[in-house]
Amino acid sequence: MDMQRIPARDGNHNLQDYKKMRENFSWNDVKNNFSWNETGKVNIAHEAIDRHAEDPSKKDKVALLYSSPGREEKVTFEQLSKESNKFANVLKKYHVNKGDRVFLFMPRSPEFYAAFFGILKTGAIAGPLFEAFMEQAIRDRLQDSEAKMLITTPELLGRVPQEDLPDLEKIVLVGDNSEDSDKYIDFKKEMNDATTDFDIEWVDLEDGMLIHYTSGSTGKPKGVYHVHNAMIQHYATAEWVIDMKQDDVYWCTADPGWVTGTSYGIFAPWLHGVTNVIRGGRFTPDDWYGTLDKFNVTVWYTAPTALRKLVSAGEDTVKKHDLTSLRHIMSVGEPLNPEVITWGLKAFDLRIHDTWWMTETGAMLIVNIPSEEIRPGSMGKPIPGIEASIVDNEGNELPPNQMGNLAIKEGWPAMMRKVWNNPSKFESYFINGWYVSGDSAYRDEDGYFWFQGRLDDVINTSGERVGPFEVESKLIEHPAVAEAGVIGKPDPERGEIIKAFITLNDGYENSDELLADIRKFVKTGLSGHAAPREIEVKDTIPKTRSGKIMRRLLKSWELGLPTGDTSTLEE
Ligand code: PRX
Repeated sequence: MDMQRIPARDGNHNLQDYKKMRENFSWNDVKNNFSWNETGKVNIAHEAIDRHAEDPSKKDKVALLYSSPGREEKVTFEQLSKESNKFANVLKKYHVNKGDRVFLFMPRSPEFYAAFFGILKTGAIAGPLFEAFMEQAIRDRLQDSEAKMLITTPELLGRVPQEDLPDLEKIVLVGDNSEDSDKYIDFKKEMNDATTDFDIEWVDLEDGMLIHYTSGSTGKPKGVYHVHNAMIQHYATAEWVIDMKQDDVYWCTADPGWVTGTSYGIFAPWLHGVTNVIRGGRFTPDDWYGTLDKFNVTVWYTAPTALRKLVSAGEDTVKKHDLTSLRHIMSVGEPLNPEVITWGLKAFDLRIHDTWWMTETGAMLIVNIPSEEIRPGSMGKPIPGIEASIVDNEGNELPPNQMGNLAIKEGWPAMMRKVWNNPSKFESYFINGWYVSGDSAYRDEDGYFWFQGRLDDVINTSGERVGPFEVESKLIEHPAVAEAGVIGKPDPERGEIIKAFITLNDGYENSDELLADIRKFVKTGLSGHAAPREIEVKDTIPKTRSGKIMRRLLKSWELGLPTGDTSTLEE
């Protein structure tokens, strides 16, 4: 087989004729799939859960197939509807209103999903936080969003700096709660007392439903704000790209603290009323193959970093499991290596479909679909309804095969509607009618897009986006660290690892123990995935005359590349 081209798979796929679909497409047509199109009553929680719970043929279908070490559970659409109603009642009792920010900081569990939809049912805005976050990360996000309520566990409570969070009125504790204070609400007790009836808050399609914090190259993480209208694109991409069918067992491996874990770990399958596997716990190849095998997963959405680990685990590990139910695989978050695609053909006899999108875009934009050929190394082509291009820094389109800014014509259904508390940041994404992604890419003559790299200093480590500023800020809080500059260093398994260059304060000597202590400081203060794997002590950190750290220069030094223009370098 020509490795440059992997032909479309046979079979009846939901999007059979890509070209025709693009030509005749209108987002308006997708609206026919929602009940609000007739009733005028909008809430994404109704479309994802209650609508199926009210359907006699669907209500007893398993919505959530939950599995984590030591716990397994099946939750039907009707049960999830009732549990989320109960939680919505709890929230109302404590005065949560439409537009309030309610954050979740807890591991994946059936309670998480009941709470998540409970929040949406009140019209409040949900803010899921990655469970590995430590105090500083929690502080930044809860302060910026002025969160009114937080749902967490007694185990994680110690990481919540309550004294710095004046807007936080109440904390719901899920789990054995020995805290005795007005501030805490006992989840179990309140849920026992709550009724299963709730008058859902009907909202406008343009009302807020979700905030995901994500990193740029400067400043603290930014609150990317999404609205109920995003469901239109979640639904459509689930149909075309995930190729969702009613009897599918779908598994998206992403944590709901990241956008993939909400858009495609929650909304996409449930808007279609499809059974959704949720797996908690840590990654091991045997557990993952075991999950595919045990639940007879048919459609799987995962990330290159996980796939690369499966490749390293070898063929014997695959062969131990029966993966014959698996029919469709997709990947997101980082470049998908052509070797991984080749391995997928051998290991699963399936193509792995790359998809490209971002926290800010809310849903998939550039994709591979089953009925089109795959060109390994390419992210694929834009979905129907999306105009993607390569533009220069002024927003002028560039011809095929020329590298530039990957950009999207603004105004798709799932696009972020603002950056919380930061209108100028929001504006800065748009040039000449284009949303400029920060990625560089080119487009070939046939319309396939090829990812080249980030144009800013954002780091992508194991598919997780880390802002260097956040790490640098934490590093300099360590008593030994005077200055810090942080870069992403290429790594075969993780894509990039975080490398920090630091200078030491007087009185501190470079030693392995000190560097280990500094690393631990970031790990326990900010989060494990943001802690530098490598730290190098320097005499100075290169800065511009205006005091900006020249990460680009650090990176060139690290990689032994030409240093380019250094005219702005401080003396
Ligand atoms: O650089 C691109 C990379 O991940 C960035 C977006 O990260 P985040 O907002 O965390 O969202 C990740 C999942 C939606 C992009 O700017 N990225 C995402 N998908 C791909 C990718 N890089 C290469 N290929 C992809 N398929």
